[in-house]
Amino acid sequence: MWCDGLVTPVPSASALTELATELATGAGDLIRAHRHDHFAVDTKSTPTDVVTEVDRAAEAFIRSELARLRPDDAVLGEEAGRRTGSSGVRWFVDPIDGTVNFVLGLPQYAVSIAAEVDGRIVAGCVHNPVSRELFRATLGDGAFVGEQRLLGPRDVPLYRAVVGTGFGYDAAQRARQAAVVAALLPRIADIRRLGSAALDLCAVAAGRLDAYFEVGLNPWDWAAGALIAREAGCTVSGLHGREPSAQMIAVAGAALARQLFGLLEELGADNP
Ligand code: IPD
Repeated sequence: MWCDGLVTPVPSASALTELATELATGAGDLIRAHRHDHFAVDTKSTPTDVVTEVDRAAEAFIRSELARLRPDDAVLGEEAGRRTGSSGVRWFVDPIDGTVNFVLGLPQYAVSIAAEVDGRIVAGCVHNPVSRELFRATLGDGAFVGEQRLLGPRDVPLYRAVVGTGFGYDAAQRARQAAVVAALLPRIADIRRLGSAALDLCAVAAGRLDAYFEVGLNPWDWAAGALIAREAGCTVSGLHGREPSAQMIAVAGAALARQLFGLLEELGADNP
């Protein structure tokens, strides 16, 4: 249990994971309680990029808890933006990753919370409030769903790989992403578009997908899931040896990563 007495300027990574887990569980309870309400839906960057009052309420809950327990930490959240801090800890918060699924009533969305210390993600939690699955990882301590350790995907060649991906909200970007998928599809076993990047990354960590890639994500979408996948032994990077970024995040087991990331490079999948 996280309590005020444990708060120090820079807590241990495992204490940050514990706090991320408490916050994600609390936000998940709120989301589950309101998922059948007639909630207001607004749009953001494009008419298809939606946000609901439940996203905003869940992020407000997380931020108010952080302000109470960790007032000197920085926060970057999907819906309420940036709060600066002085402690060296920064939180990435996505209150509902997979908002379109949430609006539709599809049970594939999650609260995603990660903590970065001095520029390095050290703690992460991804929580699906409907299935109640809780994925979490601490840097150097492995990744878990519930109490079960995650070991990454099976070892398959490219032609047998089931690969997850996602698409942005901008029509021109979606056209480029569709062209990459069209070229990829004959070379792999199949594609999945499940609708939550955070859960996609956890799915690779749990061996439910063989790989996943997407361009145009924000750090709140991938920070926690990327740590969970890395701690499950996956290769997580951009293309051409870069770090994951808005340009590309790609994840797979090491052998498949060499084949898939090479093919994505050939296809120019991370071209702007
Ligand atoms: C979206 C989901 C989706 C991905 C989009 C993201 P949001 O996050 O992760 O799977 O394809 O690129 O923006 O908007 O539901 O928080």
